[in-house]
Amino acid sequence: MSRRWFLILILLLIGSPAPVLHAVGMSGMGGVGGMVDKLSIQTKSVGTVVFSHSLHALKCNVCHPSIFKKKNNSNHVTMELMEQGRSCGACHNGRQAFNVTGDCVTCHAGDIAIKTKTVGKAMFSHEVHIDMYGCEDCHPDLFKPRNNSNHATMDAMAEGASCGACHDGDSAFGVTGDCATCHAGDILYKDEDNGNVVFPHTAHIDMFGCDECHPDLFKPKRGANRASMEDMENGESCGACHDGDSAFGVAEDCESCHDM
Ligand code: HEC
Ligand code: HEC
Ligand code: HEC
Ligand code: HEC
Ligand code: HEC
Ligand code: HEC
Ligand code: HEC
Ligand code: HEC
Ligand code: HEC
Repeated sequence: MSRRWFLILILLLIGSPAPVLHAVGMSGMGGVGGMVDKLSIQTKSVGTVVFSHSLHALKCNVCHPSIFKKKNNSNHVTMELMEQGRSCGACHNGRQAFNVTGDCVTCHAGDIAIKTKTVGKAMFSHEVHIDMYGCEDCHPDLFKPRNNSNHATMDAMAEGASCGACHDGDSAFGVTGDCATCHAGDILYKDEDNGNVVFPHTAHIDMFGCDECHPDLFKPKRGANRASMEDMENGESCGACHDGDSAFGVAEDCESCHDM
């Protein structure tokens, strides 16, 4: 059974919030009555929520005009009112659809990649943090709820800015250690013929600063720095250090790197 029919059946079984339900073909929905698929609903404190029409392939009058006026950003309510059955809460009540009191990240932001100039992306998981904090603990004062609009240096974090407001080694693990917990972990180079190579990022971060490898020797992006063993023997890529002098050499013990 298609997802849409399943969804409609559920609504029929449980009782719908509005008159008669009929299926609306996805294809028939494009451009109907000026309908746009993805709409951004703007909140004051926690950024935007994307509502997708095509994920809600129900007859228009299930929602319009009884639950929502047909105009973007003209139906604002609080989460508290939703819990009482208004707006999205007319269906997202744990019966017709997942509840507004849980799964915040299904409607709001999920995992976020924060881009840096020099060392690629640092990962932030909303899900992990929402289990411990309310949105207001971070938004809008500590972070504007918009990706890549709150840049800080690690030095500033060590002084308590940005992630450092909690990651001080006391309330949460500190920004001056455990770099790989927020930045990249180990990297796999897949190679069935010659044996996979796992580059132990963490072991190298314990020995070197990021700037000794990024961005000059390696662009901080998985798979963006292909090299052959010959290149390495000529001092490129891993061979910049693995020359048998600063570190074991690339022409020596193949199995130190390749899983053979
Ligand atoms: C599950 C509920 C739901 C269904 C079903 C639904 N809509 Fe909507 N619609 C919304 C929501 C939510 C908004 C945004 C309201 C807001 O931003 O305040 C919206 C907004 C709109 C807007 C305004 C867009 C804009 O840019 O201002 C139009 C037009 C619209 N819908 C047409 C339709 C049509 C046509 C159908 C049937 C094919 C339909 N809708 C079915 C929930 C629904
Ligand atoms: C079904 C989707 C949905 C789920 C699930 C959901 N929200 Fe919302 N939330 C929205 C929408 C849509 C808005 C914007 C409402 C508006 O402006 O009309 C909103 C607005 C908000 C706001 C700003 C308005 C206010 O009440 O202060 C906060 C804060 C918020 N959500 C927190 C949460 C938290 C915390 C959770 C999880 C417990 C959650 N939301 C779960 C859809 C959802
Ligand atoms: C008329 C009923 C109805 C209304 C109103 C409604 N939804 Fe839904 N929504 C559903 C149903 C049914 C599903 C699918 C069942 C489920 O996933 O629990 C769904 C699924 C979703 C999903 C999950 C889609 C996916 O990826 O699987 C999101 C996100 C969502 N709704 C957001 C919203 C937001 C935001 C609003 C308010 C602006 C809203 N819905 C209003 C009925 C509704
Ligand atoms: C522990 C802190 C923290 C908590 C708690 C938190 N956020 Fe965030 N949020 C962030 C950070 C960090 C970013 C990324 C900001 C950046 O990239 O500059 C972010 C970004 C966002 C964005 C922008 C997403 C994008 O792609 O542009 C939205 C929307 C958002 N948060 C909503 C919420 C909502 C809703 C809640 C509560 C349910 C919440 N946040 C709880 C820290 C938090
Ligand atoms: C709690 C998570 C976290 C930890 C732990 C962490 N970082 Fe970061 N780091 C980030 C985030 C997020 C950014 C992006 C900041 C921004 O752009 O706002 C960043 C940015 C950076 C930058 C670019 C900005 C600058 O200061 O030059 C460098 C370099 C960096 N981190 C190195 C490190 C090193 C080295 C460690 C370990 C000693 C470390 N980080 C530990 C989260 C963390
Ligand atoms: C409001 C306080 C607060 C802020 C702000 C905050 N964190 Fe956290 N974070 C925590 C706490 C508490 C934990 C769990 C305790 C621990 O692991 O030490 C945690 C855990 C984590 C984890 C481990 C997640 C896991 O899977 O277990 C990562 C990664 C992380 N934070 C990254 C970040 C980044 C990146 C930022 C900034 C963009 C940030 N945090 C901002 C409080 C915060
Ligand atoms: C000894 C060299 C070396 C050091 C030191 C190093 N890296 Fe890397 N890094 C690499 C290599 C090699 C790759 C993989 C590049 C590829 O796949 O082409 C990589 C990849 C990355 C990626 C991309 C991950 C992905 O999934 O796309 C990020 C982000 C990154 N590094 C951040 C950092 C940060 C932050 C530091 C310092 C805390 C650091 N690196 C220190 C060598 C290093
Ligand atoms: C310092 C770690 C390291 C050592 C030691 C090493 N390799 Fe590699 N090797 C790699 C990495 C990393 C790649 C993947 C490079 C890429 O895709 O950019 C690779 C790729 C290769 C390839 C495919 C690319 C090419 O040059 O054709 C072959 C074949 C290979 N290695 C053979 C060997 C043999 C034989 C030895 C021992 C004499 C060896 N390697 C020792 C890290 C190492
Ligand atoms: C900036 C210098 C530098 C670069 C670049 C570098 N390494 Fe290393 N690596 C070292 C040093 C130093 C050691 C530790 C000394 C030793 O084992 O000879 C080491 C150790 C290792 C180890 C053993 C780690 C352990 O836990 O015992 C592996 C595996 C390794 N490197 C793989 C690689 C691969 C694969 C690359 C390229 C993708 C690479 N390294 C790039 C300096 C570097």
